[in-house]
This record gives sequence, C-alpha cells and structure tokens, in this order.
Amino acid sequence: MKTRIGILTGGGDCSGLNAVISSVVRAGSTLGYEFVGFEDGWEGVLDPVQYRELDIQAVSGISHLGGTILRTTNRGRFAGKTGEGGVSIIPNEILEMAARNLRKLHIEGLIVIGGDGTLSAALQLAEYTGVNLVGVPKTIDNDLESTDQTFGFSTAVQVATEALDKVHTTAASHTRVLFVETMGRHAGWIALHAGLAGNAHAILLPEFTFSLDKLVQFLRQRHDNKQASIVVVAEGIRIPELKRQLSSIGASEVALAGVSQQLIHAVEQLAPNEFEMRAVILGHIQRGGTPNHEDRILAKRYGVAAIETYQAGKFGSMVALRHGQMVAEPIKDAVSGLKRVNSETPELVTARKIGLFV
Ligand code: F6P
Repeated sequence: MKTRIGILTGGGDCSGLNAVISSVVRAGSTLGYEFVGFEDGWEGVLDPVQYRELDIQAVSGISHLGGTILRTTNRGRFAGKTGEGGVSIIPNEILEMAARNLRKLHIEGLIVIGGDGTLSAALQLAEYTGVNLVGVPKTIDNDLESTDQTFGFSTAVQVATEALDKVHTTAASHTRVLFVETMGRHAGWIALHAGLAGNAHAILLPEFTFSLDKLVQFLRQRHDNKQASIVVVAEGIRIPELKRQLSSIGASEVALAGVSQQLIHAVEQLAPNEFEMRAVILGHIQRGGTPNHEDRILAKRYGVAAIETYQAGKFGSMVALRHGQMVAEPIKDAVSGLKRVNSETPELVTARKIGLFV
C-alpha cells in the first residue's frame, strides 16, 4: 500500500495555491505517494471530515488558476492565532479529533499550506499528537519570518502597481490627491513595493508612525505647484491622531480596509477645502485572479520542496526561500514573529533617497 499524505490550504486565499497543490501531487506521485485534499482548511480534517482524492488527473489544468480548489477558511475550530502576536490555544479534544480522523483515513502526514495562523495551528497539532507535518508559507502580505518571499505577494504587488499606473492619469488631470489603499495588516510590503514600482509620491506603512501635519505640508507643496499626489496607504497604518473605527469581521480579527477614507477625513480637518481627495481601496482584487509568472514558478518550487522535505523526514519544518534556494526551516521559528519593513529595507531606503514621503 502506498503512503497517503493529506494536503490542506488554510487562512486567506492567494494566487498560487493551486500551483502548490498541483506540484506536490505531481512530484509526490512520481515518488510513490498518494494524496488526499482536505476541504475548507483545518475544518476538513475535523468531524464531519471533508476530503477528496487528489491524483494527477484531479490536479490537471489548475496550476494557473487563482484561489484554491480545496477551499479555505480563516476561522473555525482550528484558529491558531488571534491577531498580532496572539496565540489561540486549540483544545486538546479538537487536536485529538484531527489525529484520529487522519488515522481512520490511513493518512501518514500532512502538507499544510498557510500563513502565520494556519502554521501556528499545525505546530500545535504536531506537538500534541506527533502528526508528521510539513508547512508551505503563504500570504500576500509577505510577512512570514524565515522565508525571503511567499507566493501570492508578487501578484498582489503587480495588481497594485497596475492600479497606480491607472490612477496617475486621472489624478493628474484633476490635480487631485488619490489615496490608494493596499492590503497589509501588520506589514507594509505590498504598499512599499507597489508604491515604489508605481511611482507613488508618498507611501504610508504600518511599521512607521508619521505626522499628519507633515503629510499635509507635503501635499500642499505639490498642490501649490499644480501637481497631483498619489499616496499609497497600507490598510494597517497607525496614526496617533486618527482614532480608527474598526469593524469586527466575526472572527477574532477586525476588518482593516477603509483607513484611506478616514485619512481623507483627517486631512480635511487640518486643511479644509484645500485638496480634492479620493480613495481607491484595492481590497480582494489583490488576492484573486491568476498568479503572475513569478508566483507560478515560486509556488511550483515550494510544492516540490514540500514533498521532498516530507520524504526526507524533516517534519515540523516549513519550506522556505533563502537567497534563491529552497531550504527547510522550523515552523516554530517561522511563526515566532512577523517579518516587517524596517529603516534598512533596501526598497524603503531607495524610496526615501528619491524623495518619496515614507
Ligand atoms: O492576511 C492576508 C489578508 O489578505 C490581509 O492582508 C487582509 O487584511 C486580510 O487577509 C483580509 O481578510 P479577509 O479575507 O478575511 O477579509
């Protein structure tokens, strides 16, 4: 009998998930493994179990598609993290249920594709039940430690950059201030990369506080010279003067999207009727749709590395990209903190040196 491995995708979706699934199955089938795909993230491993057999035919024609054929969720009984820095302890009976269901289906181990929350849950399962497990890093925010880049990030940056190219002409025609809001809860990687690539004039990141007064002065100077301004805003920015109104999204986290509208309001208070301002919230457009070439290739490399890491018996590891090479890093390290932009980040240094407000 062949060794059976389960695959699941957890947390928010992103472009490239199907390419990972497909390449795990393709490379793994050649190595003699059989695969089962659990549906709806960790929920599929719990009662009532939801899964499908995954063979080469089942993954044919999916690797260029966005989303995940296995579906996913960022809530449920297996929530491993509650917002920034928090860890949610999964009850022992839930962990035991998962391990029992895997045994019943004769599944020897799991390949778990997910971000901080999904991999934190994986770690709890592995530590408590001893389930063999390999992680694959996924998040458009690109804020997972231990890896240089997650798949899905490049496509999100491309989407945001294309949006910036479009707003430039309309903003210039009206001499307006356009706030373009990107995803990025705790880290501003998408905003920074897209802002630099898309010729933004200012980039506001969650990692740095900034003065609203200084932003207004910057916009005023441009406006006085009949120049429009494009301001990229990461959804997770923190501004002392701005009391963010956050709405719960039902799970333990709050929805962050919408800060650019609040920013417009705050600028208007400081400079009444000075600027014509508009907000463009890119939202889930950054997560949906087909992966770009870079993410397709990265996702396929991650998939192959994941099954090879599994075969090598390096359980409790996450495959990671380090200086162009695929390596295995402990999941524990990957979920120990978040990777953030700092004052030495080359893209940030470059942006500042060419005069952007960052
Ligand atoms: O963590 C990835 C992410 O896309 C964040 O950038 C964003 O804040 C969040 O997920 C949105 O989650 P949801 O799809 O639940 O609205």
